[in-house]
Amino acid sequence: MTEFRLDQWTKLYAPRVSQMKPSEIREMLAVAARPDIISFAGGLPDTRVFPVHQIVESTQRVMLREGPEALQYGSSEGYEALKRQIVGMMAEGGVKIGVDDLIITDGAQQALELLGKIFIGKGDTILVEAPSYLGALQAFAGYEPNVVGIPMDDDGLKVDLLEDKLKELSRQGIQPKFLYVIPNFQNPAGFTMSADRRLKVLELADKYGFLVIEDDPYGKLRFDGEAKVLLRAVDENVVYLGTFSKIFAPGMRLGWVIAPKAILEKLINAKQAANLCTSSFSQRITEEYMNSFDWRHNVDVLIDLYRDRRDAMFDALEEYFPEGSSWSRPNGGLFIWATLPDGLDSGEMLAEAIREAKVAYVPGRGFFASEGGKSNMRLNFSYCPPEVIDEGIKRLGGVIKHQLVLYKSLMRGYTPEKK
Ligand SMILES: Cc1ncc(COP(=O)(O)O)c(C=O)c1O
Repeated sequence: MTEFRLDQWTKLYAPRVSQMKPSEIREMLAVAARPDIISFAGGLPDTRVFPVHQIVESTQRVMLREGPEALQYGSSEGYEALKRQIVGMMAEGGVKIGVDDLIITDGAQQALELLGKIFIGKGDTILVEAPSYLGALQAFAGYEPNVVGIPMDDDGLKVDLLEDKLKELSRQGIQPKFLYVIPNFQNPAGFTMSADRRLKVLELADKYGFLVIEDDPYGKLRFDGEAKVLLRAVDENVVYLGTFSKIFAPGMRLGWVIAPKAILEKLINAKQAANLCTSSFSQRITEEYMNSFDWRHNVDVLIDLYRDRRDAMFDALEEYFPEGSSWSRPNGGLFIWATLPDGLDSGEMLAEAIREAKVAYVPGRGFFASEGGKSNMRLNFSYCPPEVIDEGIKRLGGVIKHQLVLYKSLMRGYTPEKK
């Protein structure tokens, strides 16, 4: 058999493959899985909170009652009874829909991929928050868009800068396809978009004719404060993505998309080509679980657990991170976004953090489609217990202080007096 060399394969790839970069998160998770590492890198729920016994019971009931159906292909739109559960859950958030207004997907991640497929042509402009969810940037990148990042602050997307950008694009004759936002406890920054800004986004979408994609995996994980209005609750044109990953179990791989009917039809076509249907087995077990057990109580348990861990991380950051550092103050979700003192590079620092301090995080750089994130890091607080968070942040603080000493001595070395 002829031996192929790597460059021979490379020549065969489609041009879009050049956009597909290895995921920093994937590499991090491989490192984080080592038992000697304290990991703030992933976005994982704590495995101890999974309702394993309830899932065993749900599985048994489904198998005994409707085993053959659960093991068969299902409809591409999703299992009707599970869709009804979602309709009820969305109504609590002020989103009034029927079962035909949504489809089930393999996690929200598949919805991102399918939306990329039906909306993005090569070179099309899309708008994202800067920083944004790495998995979304990756899903969209495969379709070769021109990605425009709009900066954020504590109140979420800076809508004034969005408006400036839209005016500029309009002058150039460019029509952006969509704006992708994570308004609640954003990944990676932990920011929540203010109610005013939500309304402004919708006003701008209407004026400039782009679609709004609202990705909301963390909305139910609110630790304090009042819930903000969902964009989809105000405007039926918004495409809303939900998931069971953070409120139940990511291993089920179940999410959903609410969209105008015409868009849903295209998404179903795209989904049929991608995987025919989402697992009938997962959908039926999840439906049984929601129907038979107090899943809201389980979410409340998660909220209490994660609130404690967030507070432990706030306390540790206050105690161990050096002056000049800052961090976001999320009211929910899984992540804190930290900013290092001037001059430090979170990407360069990672090797020392893992090697010397045995602690991992995700450097900020990967969350930006273009420039940004050099001095930032995403810290996950849901996975480790409070005492481990304290130890990990202490070690990380030590690494930052060490890097700061090196940086300052390097800068002194370059002062004109010493030359
Ligand atoms: C903002 C955001 N969207 C989508 C996803 C994907 O979630 P799922 O497990 O539902 O595919 C994640 C996962 O972390 C996320 O943070």
